[in-house]
Amino acid sequence: MTSYTCILTETRGSVGLVRLNRPKALNALNREMLKEIMDALFYFDTNEKTGAMVITGNERVFAAGADIQEMSGVAAGEMLRGDWIAQFDRISQISKPLIAAVSGYCLGGGNELALSCDMIVASETARFGQPEINLGVIPGAGGTQRLSRVVGKAVAMEMVLNNRTLTAEEALQFGLVNKIAPVGDYLDEAFELAGEIANRAPLAVRMAKKAVNKSFEMPLSEGISAERMAFYLLFSTEDQKEGIQAFLNKRKPKWKGK
Ligand code: CAA
Repeated sequence: MTSYTCILTETRGSVGLVRLNRPKALNALNREMLKEIMDALFYFDTNEKTGAMVITGNERVFAAGADIQEMSGVAAGEMLRGDWIAQFDRISQISKPLIAAVSGYCLGGGNELALSCDMIVASETARFGQPEINLGVIPGAGGTQRLSRVVGKAVAMEMVLNNRTLTAEEALQFGLVNKIAPVGDYLDEAFELAGEIANRAPLAVRMAKKAVNKSFEMPLSEGISAERMAFYLLFSTEDQKEGIQAFLNKRKPKWKGK
């Protein structure tokens, strides 16, 4: 696998890990780091041995947002021409499940990165926020859109307009995170969850992820129709035959991903 300067990667069983690794800058997301994150995720997404991915930072910080240093002095025209935030949208093309394991600060672009993942496992110290208002701007990588769809208008307004930060407990209560674990365990918990999903029928997992994500983008009738087509399509797979036979014969299924 390629060697990177801003991230670390490793594989545990069938789970690929991407670790943000600019600790001195609190994992601030600069252009290079974003490109590396996407390259590594796409490597795992196309690697046959990988069934799911985890993205994490360290115990103190997941990511403190976009790199403010890099953004200083940049004019609007340059922002438009470079359109570096478009890197974030590439996450939506990833077909395998992606879990964010978040501890400490998860702010601005960091929170937007976590929100782009399929699930979030948080440590007790995780803190979620969109502090862009303090810089005289607004979230630019989906913060106003994905956040409000998850936590609802009232909480999103407070976070985006008034820099309200959510504790891990509040994030769980508002449906932003899937589970909370002690600081020493949150990454293992994320691996466990990712590993469980990676052991399920791969094509069904992909279709399931796509179908749930469609619910955020489509009118209900179109989403229902897309879901039904995916359900029918899975009846053409060997894994669907295996799943039904295994149930009827009271044994564990053996998935092939075919
Ligand atoms: N960009 C660049 N550098 C950052 C950074 C960021 N987002 N956040 C922290 N750092 C750097 C600091 O400049 C500091 O560097 P030096 O040691 O060289 O001075 C180092 O990380 C440690 O930070 P602090 O000394 O500030 O640490 P702290 O514990 O006192 O505070 C913090 C932690 C509350 C997270 C604080 O660093 C902070 O407020 N950071 C900025 C958070 C922010 O505004 N994020 C939004 C960015 S804009 C964005 O994300 C746009 C978008 O939607 C795409």
